[in-house]
Amino acid sequence: EKGGYKHFMLKEIYEQPRALADTIAGRLQSEEGNIYLEDFGLSDAQLAGLDKIFIIACGTSWHAGLVGKFYIEKLARIPVEIDIASEFRYRDPIVTDKSLTILISQSGETADTLAALREAKGKGGKSVCICNVVDSSIARESDGVIYTHAGPEIGVASTKAFTTQLVALYLLALKLGRSCGTLTADSCRDKVEDLLALPRKLEETLELDEQIEKIARDSMNARDFLYLGRGNQYPIALEGALKLKEISYIHAEGYPAGEMKHGPIALIDENLPVVVLVPQNNIYDKVVSNMEEVCARGGKVIAITSGEESGLQGKVDTLIQVPQTTDDLMPILTSIPMQLLAYHIAVLKGTDVDQPRNLAKSVTVE
Ligand code: M6R
Repeated sequence: EKGGYKHFMLKEIYEQPRALADTIAGRLQSEEGNIYLEDFGLSDAQLAGLDKIFIIACGTSWHAGLVGKFYIEKLARIPVEIDIASEFRYRDPIVTDKSLTILISQSGETADTLAALREAKGKGGKSVCICNVVDSSIARESDGVIYTHAGPEIGVASTKAFTTQLVALYLLALKLGRSCGTLTADSCRDKVEDLLALPRKLEETLELDEQIEKIARDSMNARDFLYLGRGNQYPIALEGALKLKEISYIHAEGYPAGEMKHGPIALIDENLPVVVLVPQNNIYDKVVSNMEEVCARGGKVIAITSGEESGLQGKVDTLIQVPQTTDDLMPILTSIPMQLLAYHIAVLKGTDVDQPRNLAKSVTVE
């Protein structure tokens, strides 16, 4: 059942090229340059009248939502508020009939996310969920559903559910952009082309496995880890830290790279591995300068960049290079080294990778 892999988590990491392709398949109407989402439940006219979007989720799904905010605000120009479900419920959010609430949940059974959906619906807002389990409670109670086609995820640490949620959020942002008139048909088609090229790039990214296992050996005895990223890579820093915490039991923190000098820089010494997400994009120079601050204080940098010629060769202790893609889709590729690093450290430490202590796959209590 693990298909020859040592753990479900590893199997699920390797299933991602297929899972991504399945989540994209059949969702572009090429002639019209529109996105087709089969159980979406809301008309274009309803979408065009929206003035606010809420994204609500827990854990890894919340990290996907943080990236989704970038997608929707950029492509559809609708303001997005993002909340952790257990916070949203109790803050009396200003939901109206012009609000759309997007719930993200792999299992579709997370108690706080379900309660947040009921709260938003009770206030007259529209709802759509991004879900991996057909006919789950959240899928049944939302006005519409976008299913991720990741297939069953058994490992407690979410991997393929996360990257397919990012794809679903991107498709949703494209759909919103088309309905709101902020995106042309040509531009939508081009962006789907970029998506279609992604499974192959993800396969290439998985070839980093051996290099990452070596990095895991070198860093597995650290007591703490820091993960830094900016823009749409900041959520990936949070996700990298969560993956490491939950399966290896090493304390880890994700931070916006630009915030480091406002506190966490005090933690840096030669015993602290600092994972820096620094793909080539418009804020690359800013992140490089944050990284240099870490190097200057003796921190052990593990840099994750994109493309062959990033200019970081020889400048950092450890360099991981993922293939180049668009800035929007880069979080999907940089997630892979996050997953593999946490996985290998956990295996080396001998923890129960698929069933870490104190955790349940689906959190059905509040
Ligand atoms: O099923 P859900 O997506 O609603 O679950 C939310 C979180 O419990 C989940 O993402 C959790 O954080 C994972 N164990 C992370 O790997």
